[in-house]
Amino acid sequence: MATKYTGHTGSAARRAARRVLPSADGPGRVMSAVDRLERATELDGASAKLRTWVKKAPLGRARDALHGRWLGHPVHPLMVQLPIGAWLSAAALDVLPGQRRGAGALVALGLAGAGPAAVAGWADWAELRPPQQRVGLVHAACNIGAVALYAGSLGARGAGRHGLGRLLGFAGLTVVGAGGALGGHLAYRQAVGANHAEGLAARVPSGWQPVGELADFPPGEVVRRTVGEVPVMVVREDREGTQTVRALVEQCSHLGGPLAQGEIADGCVRCPWHGSTFRLSDGWNVQGPATAPQPAFEARIVEGRVHLRLRD
Ligand code: FES
Repeated sequence: MATKYTGHTGSAARRAARRVLPSADGPGRVMSAVDRLERATELDGASAKLRTWVKKAPLGRARDALHGRWLGHPVHPLMVQLPIGAWLSAAALDVLPGQRRGAGALVALGLAGAGPAAVAGWADWAELRPPQQRVGLVHAACNIGAVALYAGSLGARGAGRHGLGRLLGFAGLTVVGAGGALGGHLAYRQAVGANHAEGLAARVPSGWQPVGELADFPPGEVVRRTVGEVPVMVVREDREGTQTVRALVEQCSHLGGPLAQGEIADGCVRCPWHGSTFRLSDGWNVQGPATAPQPAFEARIVEGRVHLRLRD
């Protein structure tokens, strides 16, 4: 028999959905909870201690590799594919008959991959702004909880308690899923790992653009100008009478830090926020945490005026 539509049932269902999902009236419960997490200053004490430890870790040049400077974008999202993929596959085998050994091996593989992924994640986390660190902290706590559940699952399977092993595995998958959702919030809502200079480069007008008289740029000093609406930092170098003008988009590709307030040394600018270092001549990120180079300009001097053009 066909179910008769009633306006009451429909509006009750809509009200229930609105409580959890965003609606035209505003964010739902999930979004509000994560937004509250961004503002949870009570997490800042723990963040400060952890950040000090992570920054002190003797990682040397490996720190940049963990950020993903060699790849041009963060490496952590790539590394989490192994544990998540292995654990998801283990869950699939757990619902099939006769797949105990395979499922156990995948749980162990996921545990082996979780460690390196976590190290890369902590290296990135230590260079974030406080609202991002708060969400990142809970993201990490979920993942630690998932690792504990999967370690328990592996132990139970080894002891022949396969029912418990499966149960702990499903619980671990649920918790790692919650952690993954927060990871998505970090990446897509809070723009962690995105190139914060890319959108600005796209707004630079094409062709040569005048930015002022050469005399407006004292040698060795950083001067902030705009090209169209895009802020740029300009540095004039005077080497034995030869004038060279260098210019980069002013917002750091890492998290938008003000490069015009950065330190100039050895032909590079060092971001005042987290220390990413960019070569002035071409914007190359010689040191992270920035994983993307900084958009750079060519410069020419015509009749005493400086003109800039975005490099290809
Ligand atoms: S904003 Fe983080 S290094 Fe520039």
